[in-house]
Parts: sequence; structure tokens; C-alpha cells
Amino acid sequence: MSFLLKRILIFVIGLAAIIISLLYFLNPNKKESDNIEITNIEIDEKLISQINLGKSLYVTHCASCHGNNLQGQPNWSTKKDKDGHNLSPPLNGTGHTWHHSQEQLFNIIRYGFKIYNENYDGKMQGNDKLNDDDIWSILAYMKSVWPESIQKKYDTITKH
Ligand code: HEC
Repeated sequence: MSFLLKRILIFVIGLAAIIISLLYFLNPNKKESDNIEITNIEIDEKLISQINLGKSLYVTHCASCHGNNLQGQPNWSTKKDKDGHNLSPPLNGTGHTWHHSQEQLFNIIRYGFKIYNENYDGKMQGNDKLNDDDIWSILAYMKSVWPESIQKKYDTITKH
């Protein structure tokens, strides 16, 4: 075999090796990326079923005051109800719900406003029939209807 032929052969083999490894790494069907996709789908499915559970619990326990679409009562920020209590605020991201941390919202839902004000006698009483998972599901449902910009902000702002 001539020297030139050898060089060409080595070059071709090298090129083939590069192409094969490129094809391997860029191949969208390869095993690893399959696994990543499956994991994402599993997370999404978990979240979706959590949101669905939260929605049905919300309808049973909360919608009578906060509205079927989390919209709150009309004029909630300016008017009072006939007992002189605050009206139910929206939970859909248009009110100030998202200024509270997850833990505070959890506590409000579980124990009512009296957890922060022992003299509280308004309408937001606790829900001792809901277990922890129920409450996190309701929170997941509430967050899922917040505008995307608020959802993003929620993870970074300082809450009070
Ligand atoms: C009997 C009516 C009533 C029911 C039922 C009710 N709420 Fe409320 N909720 C209120 C009122 C009124 C407020 C405002 C509290 C206040 O200022 O007195 C409130 C406040 C809240 C807040 C704080 C919102 C904010 O922006 O600060 C959250 C969160 C909340 N409710 C969630 C829920 C969830 C979840 C349920 C169902 C598990 C529920 N509420 C059931 C009347 C109700």
C-alpha cells in the first residue's frame, strides 16, 4: 500500500469515527434522553393530578366564599359584608395572596386568620378536615391559575 493511500485510509477512518460519535451524541432517540423525557412527564403528571385534586377540594371547601374561579367577592377590597367582616379576596393572583409565603398561606388555610390575630372573628376560619396533602394540592391549584409573571416572581420575592 502506498504511503498516500495509507494516509487517505487513516483520514477516512478518523472521519468515520468522528461522524459516528457525533451521530451518537446528537441522536435524539438515544437512551439517556428517553429517561430525561420520562422523568419530566412523570413530574408533570404528578403536578397535574395534584392540581386536579386541589381544584375539587377547592370547589367543596372554598368556592362558596372565594368564587368558582378564585375570583373573590365583588368589591372585596372596599366593602364589608353585612356582619361588618371583610369580604373574600380573590385567590387568582389579582389580589395580594402571592405576597404571602407558601407557609403563611398554608397556615391561613389550616388555622384561619386567628393564627396571626387571636381576636380575629371574621369569615376565614380554619379547615381542620383538610390534611397536609389536601392543603398543598389546593395551593398548587391556586398557583396554577396565577399569571406566569407572578408565578415567576413568587419564587424570588421577599414575602411578608
Ligand atoms: C366563609 C367564607 C370563606 C371560606 C369558606 C373560605 N375563605 Fe378564605 N378567606 C375568607 C375571607 C373573608 C378572607 C379575608 C380574611 C379577612 O380579611 O378577614 C379569606 C382569606 C383567605 C386567604 C388569604 C388571602 C390573601 O390574599 O391574603 C387565603 C389564602 C384563603 N382565604 C384561602 C382559602 C381556602 C383555600 C379556602 C378553602 C379551603 C378558604 N379560604 C375558605 C373567606 C372564606
